[in-house]
Amino acid sequence: MTGAVRIAASILAADFAHLGEQVASAQRGGADAVHVDVMDGRFVPEITVGPVIIEAVRRSTPLPIDVHLMVVEPDRQVERCVRSGATSVTVHAEATTHLHRVIQQIKDAGARAAVALNPATPLGSIEPALADLEMVLLMTVNPGYAGQRFIPSVLSKVTQLRDWIAARRLALDVQVDGGINDTTAGQAVAAGATVLVAASAIFQGAGGIETSLRRLRHAAMVRT
Ligand code: DX5
Ligand code: ZN
Repeated sequence: MTGAVRIAASILAADFAHLGEQVASAQRGGADAVHVDVMDGRFVPEITVGPVIIEAVRRSTPLPIDVHLMVVEPDRQVERCVRSGATSVTVHAEATTHLHRVIQQIKDAGARAAVALNPATPLGSIEPALADLEMVLLMTVNPGYAGQRFIPSVLSKVTQLRDWIAARRLALDVQVDGGINDTTAGQAVAAGATVLVAASAIFQGAGGIETSLRRLRHAAMVRT
């Protein structure tokens, strides 16, 4: 299941005029995956990117591509995202009525399946699906933008999920996303996170992308 904590670099805070180079820098800095935030202007206010950018990232790196769908009716996007190069696809529990169906759809398309919960959504909403998942994403901000402040009350949910996973002898990752920086990374790992997503701390951190990534990894290893 866990081993070392992994870091997914979210391109939301990257310079899209130089996307390929920025992804290459993240790879050199030791990123374990590239996280692509797909927003539809309905589930969240912003519209960001879609399959064309997933394809561009796919051409830029052999790293796994972790697609985070912040869209209503995610079932309409799954196959296209996987065809574009997604390694894993995350859908929001709040955005779909038929969670098991869309999880199966992601697997059938050939990707790892994950479900995300907003900070105010209780864990109980995914409990029946836990055994079918490869990863759960607990949002540590309300989704929609990079650069928001980490919500510390989610940490107890991270620990509760870690305990559920252990009690059920499951092997799935616990990912956190939003406001992860040199301070909060260690807190999230101590609470039970196995994958950290970060945008601003990596692509807008002091010293550039590679330095910022290495700093974040060090911070993640220093448990607080
Ligand atoms: C927020 C996105 C996050 C975002 C994180 O809705 O899902 O992946 O890019 O940005 P930072 O790390 O800047 O909080
Ligand atoms: Zn995200």
